[in-house]
Amino acid sequence: MTSAAQAETKVYPPSAETVARAHVDAEKYARMYEESVSDPEAFWGEHGKRIDWIKPYTKVKDVNYDFGSVSINWYADGTLNVSANCLDRHLKTRGDQTAIIWEPDDPNDEAQHITYAELHRRTCRMANILESMGVRKGDRVVIYLPMIPEAAYAMLACARIGAIHSIVFAGFSPDALAARINGCDAKVIITADEAPRGGRKTPLKSNADAALLHCKDTVKCLVVKRTGGQTTWIDGRDFDYNEMALEADDYCAPAEMNAEDPLFILYTSGSTGQPKGVVHTTGGYLVYASMTHEITFDYHDGDIYWCTADVGWVTGHSYIVYGPLANGATTLMFEGVPTYPDASRFWQVCEKHKVNQFYTAPTAIRALMGQGNEFVEKCDLSSLRILGTVGEPINPEAWTWYHEVVGKGKCPIVDTWWQTETGGHMMTPLPGAHATKPGSAMKPFFGVQPVVLDPQSGVEINGNGVEGVLCIKDSWPGQMRTVWGDHERFEKTYFSDYKGYYFTGDGCRRDEDGDYWITGRVDDVINVSGHRMGTAEVESALVAHPAVAEAAVVGYPHDIKGQGIYCYVTLMNDREPSEELRKELRQWVRTEIGPIASPDVIQWAPGLPKTRSGKIMRRILRKIAENDFGSLGDTSTLADPSVVEDLIENRANK
Ligand code: WT7
Repeated sequence: MTSAAQAETKVYPPSAETVARAHVDAEKYARMYEESVSDPEAFWGEHGKRIDWIKPYTKVKDVNYDFGSVSINWYADGTLNVSANCLDRHLKTRGDQTAIIWEPDDPNDEAQHITYAELHRRTCRMANILESMGVRKGDRVVIYLPMIPEAAYAMLACARIGAIHSIVFAGFSPDALAARINGCDAKVIITADEAPRGGRKTPLKSNADAALLHCKDTVKCLVVKRTGGQTTWIDGRDFDYNEMALEADDYCAPAEMNAEDPLFILYTSGSTGQPKGVVHTTGGYLVYASMTHEITFDYHDGDIYWCTADVGWVTGHSYIVYGPLANGATTLMFEGVPTYPDASRFWQVCEKHKVNQFYTAPTAIRALMGQGNEFVEKCDLSSLRILGTVGEPINPEAWTWYHEVVGKGKCPIVDTWWQTETGGHMMTPLPGAHATKPGSAMKPFFGVQPVVLDPQSGVEINGNGVEGVLCIKDSWPGQMRTVWGDHERFEKTYFSDYKGYYFTGDGCRRDEDGDYWITGRVDDVINVSGHRMGTAEVESALVAHPAVAEAAVVGYPHDIKGQGIYCYVTLMNDREPSEELRKELRQWVRTEIGPIASPDVIQWAPGLPKTRSGKIMRRILRKIAENDFGSLGDTSTLADPSVVEDLIENRANK
């Protein structure tokens, strides 16, 4: 960052009131951070006690980052149950307290308030249903549900009996769903008839039916009634949740799990190949999710906390369900979208339920900002104390709008940088400890040691005012342990480029004050509306179409989505470009992956810029998509430089 730009960065110190209330102030942060990195064993040994153990651990950390023998273990000889931590241990003190506030898609439908006692009963019934369907410890269960309380029951029920859940976002297509069911060899899939969202309905059960055609015929399907919409039924395969729940017992004993037993698998996109199954385990994950939830959001007993994410993403796992419930919090679960029935919905929900901590994504903030302030200003947002953002870099304009218009200048913004792989927050300002800067994730959480490396040499760049690739030295309890069924891929993806470190895939800058700014991915992953997308996945969907000979996909700046999907497509010799074909390809990708992968731009490319050895030069394609023709760099190594001129000349009009 130039010093001129730096001078423009406004710094927002926390108010005296925020500091006074906070679990962690500046002095405490400094002391705890120092302890956490100088003696991780002692630090995490102590903080591991924040959750209940059946058999206490005697070992805290056992980690090896050496490529070829990477292994990550925390609290390895301890035993516990996650659902008992999220439910049973609260029953005495807060059985009648609301655990989940459920706000449905349609504001005219009634919200539900589910107490801890009720959540416990519902979870136990679901657990008993799963057991009656043959699910046992270690078995995989795929969850493909709308944002309804049953999604939380299902997660906790799996955790209760030691089954490993793998949630598939309800926006994914049948093909993507089938790949995930097969990828983890699931025994059961839990779905619903339909998912209402923004006034429209996604036919989840018929998507599941379509997916199951490509799966083993032993996979069973448990169906939750949401809308009552019609579904086809296969006796023996399909099970009626609502009917079974009437009969099921109210109690199911929690299974004793080892700290390193898998809790869940969550598929996420990488720079190459198909999505990988990120594996999180039981003990370290829960310690980390609960501690970050409490400290980052400065959560206090009695607060109403709302994270707008979907449980189909890791944010929903750690910060709608596991973190908040482990802390005995009241967590709001929202089925709808920010703009339905209109752009006031988020703020109406905040007013209605008196939300204290509100956590959302930059893409939503940008979309709502574009609708005008009156949608915010007509609501009473005086309950709000902390605002959070996650998923992608937030531009200073959106940050400032969030701070001023939504937070009335009094709510600290926690810009939380983390990943599916990290399980919980890695860098974020803490409300009472740090001043904030629009667009900066500021400081590492306890135990996290970020380093900035030179991308070529892999050498650590010390000091401030530096930029490079972001790696993490050493482990933290919430770290992923492996890729499901492919430990080699785990090591290769995260531990091979920069030996001895965890490689994040992000670039970053450490400014003159030592504060961190995430600059975006340095690999072929793009971030579309906070959803992570591998360009390779979209490419392989495109080339699966019979008209397509070759495709290259890159990200380009998009006002609302952060990044849009830009596709260069070379057609088969016998095919001609046409608007119909463009539409067909767009629809094709939606069917193959899901609406979130919908191409924003498809440019016909008679040829793609390649090196003489046949490697596509994405750097050039990115520049063209960005409309930045002045800095294409060296094109002399191209096999045929004229293709670049053609692409520039015909650059699609966005
Ligand atoms: C990637 C991880 C973590 C839950 C949601 C996304 C980007 C995430 C931020 C942030 C800048 C961010 C990174 C990261 N990212 N949060 N606060 N500032 N970038 O999880 O799908 O695993 O994506 O999202 O590029 O690597 P994910």
